[in-house]
Amino acid sequence: MKQLTINGTRLSVFDAGGGPVVLFVHGFPLDHEMWRHQIDALTPNHRVIAPDLRGFGGSEDVRGSVTMEQFADDLAGLLDALGVGVPVTVCGLSMGGYVALAFVRKYADRLAGLILCDTRALSDSEEAIANRRKLAKSVLANGSEVAARGMPVTLFAPATLEERPELVESVAKTIRATDPKSIAAALRGMAERPDSTALLEAITVPTLVIVGEHDTLTPAAEMRGMSERIPESRFVEVAAAGHMTPMENPDAVNRAIGEFLATIG
Ligand code: MLT
Repeated sequence: MKQLTINGTRLSVFDAGGGPVVLFVHGFPLDHEMWRHQIDALTPNHRVIAPDLRGFGGSEDVRGSVTMEQFADDLAGLLDALGVGVPVTVCGLSMGGYVALAFVRKYADRLAGLILCDTRALSDSEEAIANRRKLAKSVLANGSEVAARGMPVTLFAPATLEERPELVESVAKTIRATDPKSIAAALRGMAERPDSTALLEAITVPTLVIVGEHDTLTPAAEMRGMSERIPESRFVEVAAAGHMTPMENPDAVNRAIGEFLATIG
């Protein structure tokens, strides 16, 4: 992992391989390791860049609130620091998808393609905002264990929860190791994010929309609707997966991403 100071914050970033660039953006409150299967599959033919967003993984902790725009600014700064001048494909899951949409809003000219996994364009409802505030308060008072205990059950398909405890535990472990203030900061930032529905129609690059068939957080029907609004989009619903599709059914996700990347060169 490289350590780079971007926009005043130390970020930890995986950067390997050569060829067209794919930039992976992880979900909340995880780190680049959630893309392990995709990283391994793509590095032989692509330059794969997979940072830990500020506050997560090996990157510096944050406090207060961190907006999706700030994360997108970090990605642009990271590309500059790594000498990447060519347009890249950005692939984000869930919160990483919110960041990818913030990147589209501000850095469209740096995009060659877009992959949106298990995410949404809508901003938070009042109820979702209240739930984020509640979780932030609870994590700050009682530690990240609160999120590590409560979240995995919502992230995975029932069969994954039952049959793959080691995968579920690996995600819980990552959450547990994350600083409570960073978790709270990202929750506040997600609650503040703007609605991106109108942006979908303005996306000019080829786009792949992926969702797990058992995703209850960002359901397949909603993601299909999102895909239909994007001019040049293909939609893939992945079997045997919940919200963590790239981890739960990596073969299907790698196939979809591989076929998509082959079409954009
Ligand atoms: C994620 O997986 O990144 C989260 O579910 C995003 C969210 O809480 O909206």
